[in-house]
Amino acid sequence: MPYRHIRKEKRVKIRKSNESDKIEIEKIHTRAFGKEKGPVIAGLVNGLFHDPTAEPRLSLVAEEDKKIIGHILFTKVVVTQTREPVSAQILAPLAILPEVQNRGIGTLLIKEGLDRLRQAGGELVFVLGHPNYYPRSGFIPAGALGYEAPYPIPMEHANAWMVQELCPGGIGRVKGRVVCSDVLNQPEHWRE
Ligand SMILES: CC(C)(COP(=O)(O)OP(=O)(O)OC[C@H]1O[C@@H](n2cnc3c(N)ncnc32)[C@H](O)[C@@H]1OP(=O)(O)O)[C@@H](O)C(=O)NCCC(=O)NCCS
Repeated sequence: MPYRHIRKEKRVKIRKSNESDKIEIEKIHTRAFGKEKGPVIAGLVNGLFHDPTAEPRLSLVAEEDKKIIGHILFTKVVVTQTREPVSAQILAPLAILPEVQNRGIGTLLIKEGLDRLRQAGGELVFVLGHPNYYPRSGFIPAGALGYEAPYPIPMEHANAWMVQELCPGGIGRVKGRVVCSDVLNQPEHWRE
């Protein structure tokens, strides 16, 4: 039951982020990812906000009682080795404040993001993340389907590189290596 928590979260509102949310968004990533990784991820988010090659971009926040408690970012990717253009995005990163984790808010942000991308004509969404978490929201391993990550993923983590189609036939129509925006395509973000 992937969305079983969501019904309880009536007070949580999802909306697009705006300029004045940036400091709160930075805090969320810093706290959710911890002392070592947090500042790096917060810096990545800030970089992606200013990266023209990341557009179109979708940045959503979860708000409860007017306080921002979660953030998700989708940015543009290009699937190479294909002559047909495809509307594709990558989900990175997603963070929920530690004190409100495991209440379904991450799942809710993913669902809302995918719905909005679908409505905007999106076809594919990629993610590099926990292979026990993202499949609940419809992601499946991407490597075996012919989508190469920007940098090689070690064999033991192959299932962490995932994709989801937003329209029937999205997967299979195009294949090849996925190239992210300039900021996200740096090797340090693919080393984990
Ligand atoms: C990972 C994260 C975004 C999940 O958001 P959330 O709102 O806490 O998660 P949800 O409430 O939607 O889902 C909870 C379920 O996911 C599982 N889950 C949470 N984090 C997980 C992880 N890192 N790996 C696998 N499963 C995870 C929980 O165990 C729970 O399972 P259950 O439903 O069987 O009890 C959040 O914990 C977070 O911000 N973590 C720190 C930052 C991070 O790791 N971001 C993701 C980078 S890929």
